[in-house]
Amino acid sequence: MKIIVCKSKEEVAKEAAKFVIDLVKEKNDCILGLATGSTPLGLYNELINDYNENGTSYKNVTTFNLDEYVGIDPSHEQSYHTYMQSNLFDKIDIKQDNVNLPNAVGDLEANAKEYETRIKEAGGIDLQILGIGSNGHIAFNEPGEDFESVTRVIELMESTRNDNSIFFESLDEVPTHAISMGIKSIMGASKILLLATGEGKADAINKMINGEVDESLPASVLQRHNDTILILDEDAARKLDCK
Ligand code: PGA
Repeated sequence: MKIIVCKSKEEVAKEAAKFVIDLVKEKNDCILGLATGSTPLGLYNELINDYNENGTSYKNVTTFNLDEYVGIDPSHEQSYHTYMQSNLFDKIDIKQDNVNLPNAVGDLEANAKEYETRIKEAGGIDLQILGIGSNGHIAFNEPGEDFESVTRVIELMESTRNDNSIFFESLDEVPTHAISMGIKSIMGASKILLLATGEGKADAINKMINGEVDESLPASVLQRHNDTILILDEDAARKLDCK
């Protein structure tokens, strides 16, 4: 794993944006794997700024998001569909037909299976953006999930529901389940960029780099991926010896 430590979260966003923009310029029909949450917001702003200033086009780009909550409508203000539309897709020239998020309404098992197939049929993900949970999860793959897992329905841990409750009126409103790409699906990406900012991630970051590769810390599996880059701010890198 390559590790880049930046002075601030703004620098993390700029650094990550360079990788995405370079790829989109080099391969205009690339497949991007996208994440939600607080961490990638700065990256998406950088992409929007670059689109407005330099006209980098996403016309031929396809995207696959990591996950979607079960039990809230895609039009709900906290759905990941809404997040992606308002924080990125509505502000660049990507085609709506080329954006993919798990469909968390209807036959969930069938939808999850179909999503995994869709990623494969598209040719696999060129560049996957990831965040990390304070418990070391990637996407909604919580501690203990099988490294061989593919897209499926997942029950969210209480700690994750608590972390995400800042986006909802109350903890009760936070969904209990999600459809999430699995660890094996994520490991299939050619290149992975994991972004982490803030002290709350320092422990998980240290363990994923310096600890055992173990299902109790899902992100540790990335030690086995041959092209993963971690982009951290100083707070998230605080517990690393190599800082
Ligand atoms: P965050 O979430 O970006 O909101 O901290 C990251 C994650 O849980 O994967």
